[in-house]
Amino acid sequence: MKYFAIAFTTHALAGKVFAMRCATSPTKDDFHALVEHFLALSPRDRILRFGRLVSAADICSTVESILRNPRDALLVHEPMRDLAGVMHMSYKGSIALLGLSVASWARGQGIGSLLLQRAVLFAQLRETKIVYVRKLSSNPEMRRLAQRMGLNVAWSPNASCTQLELPLGTANPFLGRRGEDRLTLADKFLCASINSIALGSARKSADKQLPLN
Ligand SMILES: CC(C)(COP(=O)(O)OP(=O)(O)OC[C@H]1O[C@@H](n2cnc3c(N)ncnc32)[C@H](O)[C@@H]1OP(=O)(O)O)[C@@H](O)C(=O)NCCC(=O)NCCS
Repeated sequence: MKYFAIAFTTHALAGKVFAMRCATSPTKDDFHALVEHFLALSPRDRILRFGRLVSAADICSTVESILRNPRDALLVHEPMRDLAGVMHMSYKGSIALLGLSVASWARGQGIGSLLLQRAVLFAQLRETKIVYVRKLSSNPEMRRLAQRMGLNVAWSPNASCTQLELPLGTANPFLGRRGEDRLTLADKFLCASINSIALGSARKSADKQLPLN
């Protein structure tokens, strides 16, 4: 069932009421609009969104998988226009992967920030501390959005290096005051390194708890 999650703005001017921009979870009726939204992304944007220059067939299968789990996605509709933005979270075991895209004509109006905020809420509901994003290290726009929102951002300064950079976001009471309490947006490329760091510290704390006899 389609439900309206967020209403952006209403304009009542001289007695006229204009339709408002809204965000909904997707339904099967959105299949073509979703495919068109992704096909309209430039080659660079497709790489940033999907991690590689995906084909039209790949886009159709992504849309099918979005529609299989509509509660993990959010679409921003602009009245009388194509889709303005799409956010999709997918989960593999404990790993959460975020895909986010805003149509080029709709950028710079806060839609990306709003969808990222929603993605954070989705992650918090699942008690996920790290959300991965493909190609985050090549995406300064996305890193800026995350940092402005107070998230930790883990990325690698160059592709051949797996060293983490963790510039702390600004204090955001909504996300927790201490850096370690805040959700981290991390480059998918760093998933293995982050997992091994997490495994190492889990082992250390398990060792500490071993009885001494
Ligand atoms: C990254 C991306 C999602 C950002 O979307 P967006 O809707 O333009 O994001 P916002 O509008 O929230 O923020 C963009 C800029 O507009 C500014 N802005 C936000 N609201 C604004 C408003 N109401 N008026 C003017 N500017 C505004 C923000 O401060 C931000 O400024 P900055 O460039 O200095 O950081 C979009 O560029 C995109 O889809 N890129 C391609 C795919 C991609 O990179 N996806 C992310 C990885 S999956």
